Amino acid sequence: MKPTQVAIIGAGPAGLLLGHLLRADGIEAVIVERKSEAEVLARIRAGVLERTTTDLLHRLGIDARLNAEGLPHHGFMLADGERLIRIDVAALTGQSVTVYGQTEVTRDLVAAAPARGLEIVWNAADLALHGIDDATPALTFMRGGVAERLDCDFIAGCDGFHGPSRIAIPAALRQSFERVYPFGWLGILADVPPCHPELIYANHDRGFALASMRSPTRSRYYIQVPADEPIGDWPDERLWDELALRLGPEAAAAMTRGPAIEKSIAPLRSFVSEPMRHGRLFLAGDSAHIVPPTGAKGMNLAASDVAYLSEALIAWYSRGDDGTLLDYSRRALARVWKSERFSWQLTKLMHRFPGDGPFERRMQLAELDYIASSTAARMSIAENYIGLPM
Ligand code: APR
Ligand code: PHB
Repeated sequence: MKPTQVAIIGAGPAGLLLGHLLRADGIEAVIVERKSEAEVLARIRAGVLERTTTDLLHRLGIDARLNAEGLPHHGFMLADGERLIRIDVAALTGQSVTVYGQTEVTRDLVAAAPARGLEIVWNAADLALHGIDDATPALTFMRGGVAERLDCDFIAGCDGFHGPSRIAIPAALRQSFERVYPFGWLGILADVPPCHPELIYANHDRGFALASMRSPTRSRYYIQVPADEPIGDWPDERLWDELALRLGPEAAAAMTRGPAIEKSIAPLRSFVSEPMRHGRLFLAGDSAHIVPPTGAKGMNLAASDVAYLSEALIAWYSRGDDGTLLDYSRRALARVWKSERFSWQLTKLMHRFPGDGPFERRMQLAELDYIASSTAARMSIAENYIGLPM
């Protein structure tokens, strides 16, 4: 292939956003993706966007559907199985979040790519990274049975948790921090109106539940289940019954049931790999860090990573300034760790952990009661929920 300036591995939110941010400044970028376009667009993920993320989409002008269909949310609910505690995000912070599915963000970014000169190579097999310690790195991969080579100035590893980029950094220079949670989230998507105008995160004796949405006519719900739970054990009716119990009487009374459009179990993990740069390779998004979905931070962190990274690459190409590039990992990780902390804290507060006894349960309830009664506690949650400053 014709050489490019920045070769991006992965067409998830991180890779797509980075590609567009670079193209907006005239930098050449090519995205190389292992899966087909249809497979990437079929992935269903979280749907709460921080201002930092929507600002990027506005700045890029890839916001027509976001403006028309995104739902501004000014608060959300924490439930303890009986009552709902409102976190009035707008009153506490003056800001709001936007409910708009990650699938839709991905769709919008893919659709805008050709007109902006952002090439995406789909179905790239056997991808390998070369020369990340040199000034002339490259990617090789197979496309339609043909061996390809993409020479570049920099490689952006936006290839998710299982991609090849992170492990291309020598093991001796890398440090990982990880917590795997002993449960997963069983999610259901259904074409029924949401049970509540705002999201409800519920901590119940029987475990966590979340009531979320994609639109006024499409709902997304989750319950905590053991990590090895067979999904066949959860026919739709059983899942609706369990949601009604865990979300509490008020939500249950307003809940409309319907057939699942999608149902799956996702594991929960906290993970950070340091550093996020080695030589000419830069990691962004899930390739460098994973958060449990409890704070809806996954895609927002991918967005802040690539905001920092695009700024640094633009400084390099426009002024030959490599200081910002060298500082990328430190800057990105400072925000990553704070989001890791928030996601972990909210996960601990809202889930039932195997081995927890009555004492741990009372601690959770006391903390929820404290949050209900303290503006300072609610403020701390709200400022993290809308996203800490970049
Ligand atoms: N070659 C090319 N592409 C690859 C390879 C490979 N060897 N391995 C993985 N990829 C691609 C995946 O197919 C996927 O499309 O990299 C992409 C990574 O995308 P995501 O997993 O979505 O990660 P990221 O863009 O960092 O997004 C982070 O979005 O996916 C969610 O849960 C995630 O919310 C988080 C946020
Ligand atoms: C979702 O709508 O899928 C969703 C919302 C909030 C979360 C996680 C997932 O914290």
